[in-house]
Formats: sequence, C-alpha cells, structure tokens
Amino acid sequence: MTKVTVSLIKADVGSLAGHHKVIPEQIETAKQLLTKAKQSGQIIDFFVFNAGDDLELLMTHNRGVDNPDIHGLAWNVFKEVTEKVSNKYKLYAAGQDLLSEAFSGNIKGLGPMAAEMEIDERPSEPIIAFAADKTEPGACNLPLYRVFADPFCTPGLVIDPSMHEGFIFEVMDLMENKIISLRTPEESYDLLALIGTPGRFVISRVLRKDGLLAAVASTSRLSLIAGRYVGKDDPVCLVRAQRGLPAVGEYLEAFSYPYLVAGWMRGSHIGPMMPVSLKDSRVSRFDGPPRVVALGFQVYNGNLLGPADLFDDVAFDTVRQKAQEIAEYVRRHGPFMPHRLGPEEMEYTTLPQVLKKLEKRFAEVKA
Ligand code: F6R
Ligand code: MG
Ligand code: MG
Repeated sequence: MTKVTVSLIKADVGSLAGHHKVIPEQIETAKQLLTKAKQSGQIIDFFVFNAGDDLELLMTHNRGVDNPDIHGLAWNVFKEVTEKVSNKYKLYAAGQDLLSEAFSGNIKGLGPMAAEMEIDERPSEPIIAFAADKTEPGACNLPLYRVFADPFCTPGLVIDPSMHEGFIFEVMDLMENKIISLRTPEESYDLLALIGTPGRFVISRVLRKDGLLAAVASTSRLSLIAGRYVGKDDPVCLVRAQRGLPAVGEYLEAFSYPYLVAGWMRGSHIGPMMPVSLKDSRVSRFDGPPRVVALGFQVYNGNLLGPADLFDDVAFDTVRQKAQEIAEYVRRHGPFMPHRLGPEEMEYTTLPQVLKKLEKRFAEVKA
C-alpha cells in the first residue's frame, strides 16, 4: 500500500489591518500555485485557509515528511504570495516569517512551521487540522494531554479496547534540542512534569502503543531561531480520528474550556484560547484573544474531502462566551504579571531594550 503524507505548513507573510487576518487574494494566489503543483503531480491534493494572520497550506502527497520538494513548494508559495500580494498592498509585516533569503532544503528553521504525518490510509481516514493564532507551539500540550491521557475528556481510553493500553507522547525540549518518549497512563505524572512548562517542552507526536501515529504538532519557536521577537509561533497540529483513535468529538471536547495560553498582544500576555469557525478566524480585541480553528477532512486515496468547519457550531457558543469573560478578567491586570508573561519569556520581546535604559540609574542600597 502506498503511504500518504499529510503536510500542514504555515507562515505569516503579511496581513490586513495590522496582524488581523490574511486577505482573500493571498489565499487565491496560494491556491493557484498549488493547483499547478497538483496538475504536475507534485502533490495529490490541497486546501488553503487562514488562522488569523497566518496562511495555512494543507497538502497531501507521496513524498514523506521533511521532503525538500514539498518544503520548497511551500516556501515558493509563501515567497510568491509575499511578492505578488503582500508587497503590492503593503500588507502589514509582509514576508514576516520568511527569515532567510534562500530556501535550504527544509522549511523548519527558516521561519514557517510544519506538522506532517506519513500514514497508511485506513479504510476510512478522518483527520482534523488544527491551526491557532496569537499563541505558541506548547499551546497544544494541554488539549493533546486531555485527548490522549485524560478519560474525563476521552471515554474511549476506558471503553475502547484499542485505546485502553494508552499512548506514547514524544516531547521536545526546545531549549536543549532534545526529545523524550513517555508512555501513558503509567508515566502520566512524568509527562505532566514536563509539558506543564509549554514554553519549553512541546508535544511533537502522539502514537498508539502499537505504533500507529495519531497526532503531530509543530514545535519551532521563531524567537529561538531568530534570537529576537518575530511574532508568536502560532502552532499547527494534525490528528487522525475514530476507529481505535479518539473520536472527532473527543478531540473537540478538549477545547470546551478556554484554557490559558501565552501569546496575545505582542506575544507577551496570557489569554484564553477561543475555538472559532473560519469566519471568525481573525483577531481583534488586544490583538486576540488567541484563537484556534479545527477543520475536519476525509482522506480518500490521498485526496481531501472537506473541510468540515468543526467549531462553527452553537455547541461552542458558551465556550466563546466564557473566553470573553476570562479575557475581560485577565485584561484588568494591565501590565502586571501573570497577565503579562514572566521575565524568561519577555527576554525575546522588546522589553529588555526598555529595561537596559534604566540600568545605569540603579544605585547601590546603603545598609
Ligand atoms: C502578536 C502580534 C501582535 C503584535 C502587535 C505589535 O503575536 O503579532 O500582537 O505584536 O500588534 O506589532 P508591531 O510591533 O508589528 O507593531
Ligand atoms: Mg502577523
Ligand atoms: Mg499569527
């Protein structure tokens, strides 16, 4: 059986009215370029969408993960959209995430972000593409833990014999560039000891104990690549659902509570994660609140049927309402922690420039 690779690659290449949203012409241009790639057989299928100011390319192909042709294709799409559309209208932060002048084989490390999985297509293969704006890669830690390790979210962990053995979590240490595998339920507490620090430890993959790949998430942090603040890292995550894996509804259940994530205004604030439809995939209040879209597809012979705009439902209205209340509550803290992030996160913002100015004015305290 031929394997199918699903690649979700994204970049912020400029947006309308500040960091608000991608414009239709950017999406159209990306579609035209990917249509050509489809006609030439480079990819099997694609879907282009946006998460706030991020342009998202969902592609299927047979070339495996980290493939230079596919990454090169995505890079060229981002370049052309920047040159043809973002630059034409002087969109805000045009080409922001293209940190390098030239493409060098893999998009990771150059600014754009990727979540990719190579799979043996099951008799029926439902997948969900999650894409968030105004937050960071570790923002997927909490929902991924809840989906794959918390029976209060996922009753399948208790009821379904194929999930009952639990899962394997691969976690990246972004500071040390190391990776560790931890098994749940037996190592749940060790796992939580790491992923509770989402700015550093990020879940990159989740596999069933028999090796079946269930979820992949992007892990790059732009500030660690660039050594300075270049916008938040707005993660993407791809998951497979049903038949021995979490149900679509179990995945969505993990977003039924607007948990707090780092990002929001100037990438420097804690705020609630708000699940939204594609129509509301744009940011407003305080450049946020942080948002996530969930698009469901059926993969059939490598093709994509969909999307189902999964948060476009009244069932999530109360979650969005709760997110507004939390937003209002945390905003009242203004420039104070814990609404504003702690010093270790602020290191990658422009705050150190301001603090530097004050250094000379500090005098010794006389005993
Ligand atoms: C957060 C984000 C925005 C900007 C803010 C200031 O990820 O992108 O909140 O940080 O709008 O942007 P600049 O410095 O470009 O004026
Ligand atoms: Mg932006
Ligand atoms: Mg963004």
